[in-house]
Amino acid sequence: MANLMRLIETRKSVRTYSGEPLTPADREKIGEFIKDVPNPFGIPVTFSLLDPAAHKLSSPVLSGEPLYVAARVKKGPMADAAFGYSFERLVLFAWSLGIGTVWIGGTMKRADFENALGLAPDEMMPCMSPLGYPARRRSVKEVMMRKGVRADDRKPWAELFFENDPQTPLAKPADPAAAAALEMVRLAPSAVNKQPWRVIRKDGAWHFYEKKDGDRYESDAVGDLQKVDLGIALCHFVLGLEDGGKTPAVTLADPGVATPADWRYIATVTANIVESL
Ligand SMILES: Cc1cc2nc3c(=O)[nH]c(=O)nc-3n(C[C@H](O)[C@H](O)[C@H](O)COP(=O)(O)O)c2cc1C
Repeated sequence: MANLMRLIETRKSVRTYSGEPLTPADREKIGEFIKDVPNPFGIPVTFSLLDPAAHKLSSPVLSGEPLYVAARVKKGPMADAAFGYSFERLVLFAWSLGIGTVWIGGTMKRADFENALGLAPDEMMPCMSPLGYPARRRSVKEVMMRKGVRADDRKPWAELFFENDPQTPLAKPADPAAAAALEMVRLAPSAVNKQPWRVIRKDGAWHFYEKKDGDRYESDAVGDLQKVDLGIALCHFVLGLEDGGKTPAVTLADPGVATPADWRYIATVTANIVESL
């Protein structure tokens, strides 16, 4: 993917679209991409393109969107993170073509999208996104929304990344690939811009945790949007390491570190990272 850091730095949620349909070439590329978007959990995430008019779909925060993409995953352990990982790969691919997206988990007529997908009872659709070209100016509604969630802000490094335990902030890693990949995690999008990811590096492994904000982002039908966020963070970390020439692997290897009560272990990344240069 062309200059991953630049893609991640320049991607912003797009809620105001030009109204133009995707060019046939772009639609073809998206159509090819969504056929198979793997994730490290080996859980299939199945994408569908949905035409707004044909299915009478809408979202109160969007305008001018010519198309939607929605995806389904079978409910189960790690389904939310798998969904987040695969869907974020599509978000970044779309942006590499100049196609805007915004993760939508709440502000939509959910039942209409689920019906359009033909969702089965054992499946869930945590989020959908519009796909289209950004309008030249954001709507007033979108500007207000961005202010409301401080969409341009991100937490500082010291609140997110730790060494051995959740009290000791991580010094910037000597290996530039690891430093860049963590910055990519920091810049990732999240539900209500909560940035619930926390990472502890211990014995050369990178342990990812969800800092839960109560249970308000969770339900059987939608899944846990903050676990979806963790899938997004893992996606950025893994793609970032690969971009830096590493070969990361994602495993479930809870190190049993004592963490605050609202942290939940999600997954571990190991890679051939040089600890000191
Ligand atoms: C899992 C998830 C769910 C989201 N749900 C919504 C939503 O329902 N409505 C909305 O307008 N934005 C939604 N967002 C977009 C976030 O508000 C946005 O990513 C965040 O404020 C950061 O802004 P940015 O994407 O421009 O960097 C969601 C984002 C994620 C990752």
